[in-house]
Amino acid sequence: MSIAPDPTLFEDFEATGLKFELQPLREVLRSPLFERFLQEIWEPQTCFSPPPVAAPRLGLSAPGGSSLLEILAEVREKVARHAVNTRHPWALAHMTPPPATASVLADFLVGALNQCAFIWEEAPLAEALEAETVAWLARRLGLGRDATGILTSGGTLSNCLAAYLALAYHWKRFGDTPERLAVIATDQAHLSIRKAAALVGVGADAVISVPTDEQGRLRPGQIAAAAERALQMGQRPFLFVCTAGTSNAGVLEPPEEFLAAAQSHDAWCHIDASHGGLMVLGSDPYPGAEAWAEAESISWDPHKSLYVSYAVGSLLLKEPSLRAPLEFHSEYALKEDDLSRDAGAWHLEGSRRLDALKLWIVIRHLGDEGIDALTDHSLTLARVLADEVEASGDFELMTAPDTNVVCFRFVSPSLDETELDELNRRLQRHLYQSGGPLVSSTRVGGRAVLRTVLMNPALEVGQLGEILDAIRVEGLRQLAELQGQGRVAQGECA
Ligand SMILES: Cc1ncc(COP(=O)(O)O)c(C=O)c1O
Repeated sequence: MSIAPDPTLFEDFEATGLKFELQPLREVLRSPLFERFLQEIWEPQTCFSPPPVAAPRLGLSAPGGSSLLEILAEVREKVARHAVNTRHPWALAHMTPPPATASVLADFLVGALNQCAFIWEEAPLAEALEAETVAWLARRLGLGRDATGILTSGGTLSNCLAAYLALAYHWKRFGDTPERLAVIATDQAHLSIRKAAALVGVGADAVISVPTDEQGRLRPGQIAAAAERALQMGQRPFLFVCTAGTSNAGVLEPPEEFLAAAQSHDAWCHIDASHGGLMVLGSDPYPGAEAWAEAESISWDPHKSLYVSYAVGSLLLKEPSLRAPLEFHSEYALKEDDLSRDAGAWHLEGSRRLDALKLWIVIRHLGDEGIDALTDHSLTLARVLADEVEASGDFELMTAPDTNVVCFRFVSPSLDETELDELNRRLQRHLYQSGGPLVSSTRVGGRAVLRTVLMNPALEVGQLGEILDAIRVEGLRQLAELQGQGRVAQGECA
């Protein structure tokens, strides 16, 4: 019996094949709808319009077959309409810059080329692109000629890899020690340090969080003291993490404290400059960063400081031998000839996007000078905002900014600390619900604060006063509501 294929199957297949052709894409790129959509993204009228319900559904159960233009219209209506517009001057909440135009183009090209940055046969230029971009990062960080590194998907992965390398470094020196191990960091270290400790098997509890002061700053001598105490309690420190630009208040922790303690315990020192790496840029680089070069490793996220769209991070190492424990080759990636270099040997991921091309394009387009000018602008915005907060009678600056993060709170003389916490948490939520200005909420020195990250080139210094006014108006409204409900003391705002 012959098995004749059903001819309609071929028709279906041919129709599917059309979906891989250029023509539908060309129709989108040339359509007025796409043009309008781009305009809305680049020049947003509103900062944020929250979705009507907390957990909206988009309806992927719809049958396939929609044209790209139809889908574009749907995405514009359902997704983009409720996206946070990072290009809007009121988007100040998080460490997400508006991506440079070059980065958006690069995302398209990286997707269209779809090179698997893992095997020479798949992406012969991946290794060179990554080496060039990593060399640029190392140069800007002021690292020595031996420095090396890899691109990662962000600070979390870089920190996890650093913890793994630190553990391998410890084993190499001390073998399998009977003591429990410890990671020493401050209570301001990013959550990913605990994730890293958990993933490398020492447990999240191995992280000793050294308490900081009311501004989120390290008190002198506390790192060495914590390491000594740990040792006395039978916990051997194998990793010291200095956060350069804390997530809460952007504080630059003093690298010398961590480097000296790591050295005296023959342990690894890691600088988490995922955010604070930007401080080596600009016309007046942070002098403390010179000491970073002495650390074994540094995390630095181009998707924060370099206006690159997600997800591009990096892990820099002082010298190549330190990365040996990460080296794994696969039979099919590496062959015995000169051409087959393995571009994936030091990466945790197997298949990877050619994100090095994205970073390469952004650096080529903005150039050192452009990147420095953007950084200067960002740091100026932060200083001016901090000054305006201090000069006002009704806002309180919580931490003088070391970077482009500014934390402050709305105050009223009649309220006690607990009431101020409630007021500021409520204020942050209501600002989000009403479309901005978008600020985040966190705790500094145990108090609820409003956190802003100033990194939008479209935001002008002259607009900062209007932003504070808008926050003040909402603050007064929330205060009046809380007073009306009898939940806080009555009284006038300063
Ligand atoms: C200091 C610090 N380290 C690490 C991270 C994690 O970076 P990512 O979100 O890119 O994984 C962050 C994120 O904000 C951070 O502020």
